[in-house]
Amino acid sequence: MDKRPSSLKRITTKKAAEKFIAQQVKAIQEQVGDKKVLLALSGGVDSSVCAALLIKAIGKQLVCVHVNHGLLRKGEPEQVIEVFRNNLGADLRYVDASKLFLKELKGVDDPETKRKIIGKVFIDVFAKEAKKLKGIEFLAQGTIYPDILESKGVKAHHNVGGMPKEFDFELVEPVKYLYKDEVRVVGEALGLPKNMVYRQPFPGPGLGVRCVGAITKDRLEALREADAIVREEIGKLKEKPWQYFCVIPDLKSTGIKDGKRYMGWAAVIRAINTKDAVTAKSYEIPYKTLYKIRDRIIKEVPGINRVLWDFSDKPVSTIEWE
Ligand code: XMP
Repeated sequence: MDKRPSSLKRITTKKAAEKFIAQQVKAIQEQVGDKKVLLALSGGVDSSVCAALLIKAIGKQLVCVHVNHGLLRKGEPEQVIEVFRNNLGADLRYVDASKLFLKELKGVDDPETKRKIIGKVFIDVFAKEAKKLKGIEFLAQGTIYPDILESKGVKAHHNVGGMPKEFDFELVEPVKYLYKDEVRVVGEALGLPKNMVYRQPFPGPGLGVRCVGAITKDRLEALREADAIVREEIGKLKEKPWQYFCVIPDLKSTGIKDGKRYMGWAAVIRAINTKDAVTAKSYEIPYKTLYKIRDRIIKEVPGINRVLWDFSDKPVSTIEWE
């Protein structure tokens, strides 16, 4: 196994992060020279910190590709463009593939098949974009130390796919010996926004596994809006849970508006605390926050006429619904 060097001390301070950044900038420059590097930038903590380090080291020799699969949370693709293209001056290729993903996922209700499709279409879109680029010799990846340690862990169990054979480039993995908390400290020292660096874990297949059953555009849009409300309101609490989000099951129930009955979806609030995602405890959301979320979702999100709170623990209930 690729082992963390004993000379690498835990990074907990800005000063230690700055030292690490200076070392990595030098190491990247030495490894890459004047060649070009490709990176799939999801906007997650790891790929974002990896990108920011590479931009600092080699500027526009890094080409970032951000594939919007339409399953991202509200505001995420916009933030990737704002931070990396507008603020950091990155060479960022933005691909909106949301229509293609919806088409490929049409009618598919099996969770693992959904994951496989999302993984495969993602690689196809990324590969197609990468083929347009000339002179790429390296592939950067935001691998972090737990990915190496837990290559049989939760993330590996869920994530399908991998780079196709033609992406046989030499790897650049500047944060591969860092733990998550260290990656965040480095991200902050690199000037990335706090909400990007400290964001909660978000599955690769994104909202795809929270729009339960066969995904439809209108239910997905309702989910994105309701999820943004859940994140905003729980995000205001002093002690935030580890993961908090919204789920919309594929079921309709009766609502009543202006004296007329109609069928609508139920939004499910989920908030949990955990150390390792193997077991999890439902987080006790204050009632005031629950009511606020309920009122806002019903008022602001078309199509939803019921709000539920899933307060189940894991086991037996997994964190995600799929
Ligand atoms: P479960 O639902 O299995 O989730 O209790 C455990 C943790 O894993 C995350 N998760 C995923 N992460 N791809 C990922 O990268 C996935 O397909 C996936 N499914 C679940 C989940 O959000 C939780 O943190």
